[in-house]
Amino acid sequence: MADAVPTGLELTALDKPFRENPYPILAKLRQCERVHHDQVFKRYVFTRHDDVMAILRDRDLWSDPRKGNPGTFSREVLGNDDEEPSMLLMDDPGHRRLRELVYRSFTPRAVEQWRSRARAVADRVIGEIDGSEFDLMEKVARPIPTVVIAELLGVDPSMHESFKQWSHDSVEVAFSPVKEEAAVRLAEKAQASLDAFFEEEIRRRRSESGEDLISQLVAAEAVGDRLSVAEVISTCNLLLAAGNLTTTDLIGNGTKAFLDHPDQMEKLRAQPGLMKNAVEEILRYDSPVVNSGRIANADMEIGGVKIARGESLSVTLAAANRDPDVYPEPDRFDIEREDTHHQSFGGGRHLCMGAHLARLEAQETFFALFDRFPEIHALEGRYEYAPVPSFRSLKSLWVRVAR
Ligand code: HEM
Repeated sequence: MADAVPTGLELTALDKPFRENPYPILAKLRQCERVHHDQVFKRYVFTRHDDVMAILRDRDLWSDPRKGNPGTFSREVLGNDDEEPSMLLMDDPGHRRLRELVYRSFTPRAVEQWRSRARAVADRVIGEIDGSEFDLMEKVARPIPTVVIAELLGVDPSMHESFKQWSHDSVEVAFSPVKEEAAVRLAEKAQASLDAFFEEEIRRRRSESGEDLISQLVAAEAVGDRLSVAEVISTCNLLLAAGNLTTTDLIGNGTKAFLDHPDQMEKLRAQPGLMKNAVEEILRYDSPVVNSGRIANADMEIGGVKIARGESLSVTLAAANRDPDVYPEPDRFDIEREDTHHQSFGGGRHLCMGAHLARLEAQETFFALFDRFPEIHALEGRYEYAPVPSFRSLKSLWVRVAR
């Protein structure tokens, strides 16, 4: 089977080789076929940089899974015919309206004001670590993004632990093509708790508004239009679903890249001015989101392959970022790389709204980590990737530090 074109489960983190290192598998797929028809999960898989970029930026393609043909990847994995999808899976005119109302809280300028708070959270979380060996995912990468978003939403600190647990449980199965009964039940329970929690928070903000994100969403208004309670709840949920695991993975994958390339870590310690470029290179080198998607809005042909209206287009961001036609030595991690542009935040209409926040959190976390620990090393072989499809997600990453 070694020479067969990888397909189905082999292209997901549920399969061990892909989970441990997807890059050789994606490189093989990119070499074999410009467009791969995955007949198991019913999707067309794209791995070339230019195709991925063009699909993401095509504003006519759909995202709403309810428009997908029955049995296709988008419809089966992401669709729920009884529910309005979140912004990520909406089409116009609903998408434009919602995005405009929410975006004002996420402009680079608005987000930059949270930098010092993000640094304070990173310093606090990292400052609480004792002992010289610990799991960086548990102690650093998972708590920081959840505490930052909890603070931004104005969640009371006494609720942070429950909030962390609910966000974690509700997201784990969301993007998986294989859903286990027990995990689905847990996710539903966590989701119900989050919904009830947000509803209560919104009710409170109506009488005592503050500076936090929920207050901003409740007050968001454009030409007489406002978000309904259900829309504020769905947006808060999306911010958790789209923002937490991904930022955790950015911090985890970035730390792993530094541990595997100590020369790059030393370079950054010596020249902190390289931090911005380093975080872009981490996003390119080991994208937290492996694939995003769209739905064909008409019959079309790409690379000689006919694709019918309603079929799923799966764009492999992680493969596009390492296309040798675009990046010299794509598998090399180089924080001084000149061209670090990447597809890791998607593009076009659905370009990640939290991109500035994610960058800022990662930059401040690495500053805090390097300040606190003058030396940090990997504990040989003590890391594990999580079987979460569509994401490149470390479950554990053990390190030894010197203070
Ligand atoms: C490293 C961290 C992150 C990565 C890699 C990431 C990646 C992505 C990707 C790939 C998409 C889909 C884009 C597309 O299909 O074109 C997306 C959408 C989105 N992300 Fe992020 N994201 C991250 C962090 C965040 C954060 C921190 C937030 C907010 C708190 C956030 C909010 C959103 C929202 C609201 C959307 C939907 C936008 C729309 O549909 O118009 N993301 N993100």
